[in-house]
Amino acid sequence: MDKLPAVLAMIEEQFTVSAEFMRDIATGFQQAMSAGLAGKPSSLKMLPSFIGSPTGREQGKVIAVDFGGTNVRVLLVELAGKGQANIIDKRSAPLKDRSGNYDYTSAAASGSELFDFIAGKISEIAPAGGTYPLGHTFSFPCRQDGVNEAVLISWTKEIKTTGVEGLNVGQLLQNALELRGVWHVQSLAVINDTTGTLLATAYTDTATSIGAICGTGHNSCYLEPCHPLTSQPMIVNLESGNFDGIRQTEYDILLDQASEKPGAQRLEKMASGQYLGELVRLIVNGLTTDGHISKSSDRLRIPYSVTTEDISPILADASPELNAVANLAATRWGIQGLTISELEAIKTAALLVTMRSARLAAATWAGVLFKIDPALSRRHTIAVDGSLYEKMPGYADNLFKAMAEIFGDKAKQVTIKLSKDGSGIGAAIAAATVYNAR
Ligand code: GLC
Repeated sequence: MDKLPAVLAMIEEQFTVSAEFMRDIATGFQQAMSAGLAGKPSSLKMLPSFIGSPTGREQGKVIAVDFGGTNVRVLLVELAGKGQANIIDKRSAPLKDRSGNYDYTSAAASGSELFDFIAGKISEIAPAGGTYPLGHTFSFPCRQDGVNEAVLISWTKEIKTTGVEGLNVGQLLQNALELRGVWHVQSLAVINDTTGTLLATAYTDTATSIGAICGTGHNSCYLEPCHPLTSQPMIVNLESGNFDGIRQTEYDILLDQASEKPGAQRLEKMASGQYLGELVRLIVNGLTTDGHISKSSDRLRIPYSVTTEDISPILADASPELNAVANLAATRWGIQGLTISELEAIKTAALLVTMRSARLAAATWAGVLFKIDPALSRRHTIAVDGSLYEKMPGYADNLFKAMAEIFGDKAKQVTIKLSKDGSGIGAAIAAATVYNAR
């Protein structure tokens, strides 16, 4: 008897996040926020940014560095005030060369090599004959004692570069710039990418309360109305990817155990682009091992042999033959000749994993809203950047539907919008804020 439908139903049950479950997650998240803010044990680090909401009047030409772990982007941004930001010039380079010439993310690379590489990109873009403030988006958990004092607590997203953890990344970049003789650029602010996303949207929309990344990594920040350190509004980086209040499936446990840092970043490992492809692979591999899918291959057993970008076309595939799924199985795993129901099983795995990701993210945002405005008495904008939000078919829709399920009618107070290039533009706004306040 064909057991595949029954097995799939069991997998579906494990990955389903009901409305009630989302509300429970939101409540747990809200409690973890309060504990973290009060300095009590919590999986949420609640890292202060020492920066509040922008006024929209920040002005000037600023260099922005956006370092997220996959690429480094350097932008020359003109802030025109009145909420207008224009990117005048930009450079982007992968941190890991596809042809294998370099990899600044591996344990064999040192922090000074990495920052020298970034400084090189900055020198290409900083026009001679002026001085430029620099804002640096560094998308990893940093302990901050001031807006320009950011010490990397630990790498996430499987980055392993040596000689950066425990050090001040603003200083590392400034040193690298000076070693290259780039004296006319001064690093003034280091922010998280979520903070950048919030700042860039808040530049034009004063209702912005949450900034989030749904991309290679997953994280959110929010505007705390009265921060205990300053009694002023301050953006707080939640490092919500580390939230541990969600039940793991057997696949999450397998993925976590084989990861660089088992036990850490549990939500991120369930929700971010770094890991969704691997979750799909683990499900499919389990189905072949148990004989529910008839064909297997050695390549299917290679971790991360399918990426999140690979599963995008699967979600969009409406062809009766499921061409995109068959193509993925053939090109990534060397598996051919699967039946339609086997191909459908792979598509279902991809749908379940991505839908759960969106619903978990939405639940954590609901947790933030439970904390700052439980009655949803005013409008809130959630600014989001990242490849999952921007490109994964159905992802943005799933977020929106999840919010409606959690809040019912009141969900109309909540707008989720793309903060395109937000992490870079936000760095420019942060630097301009510091520059103008001097
Ligand atoms: C990881 C980092 C976090 C960042 C996120 C998105 O979760 O720890 O700081 O915001 O990725 O890039």
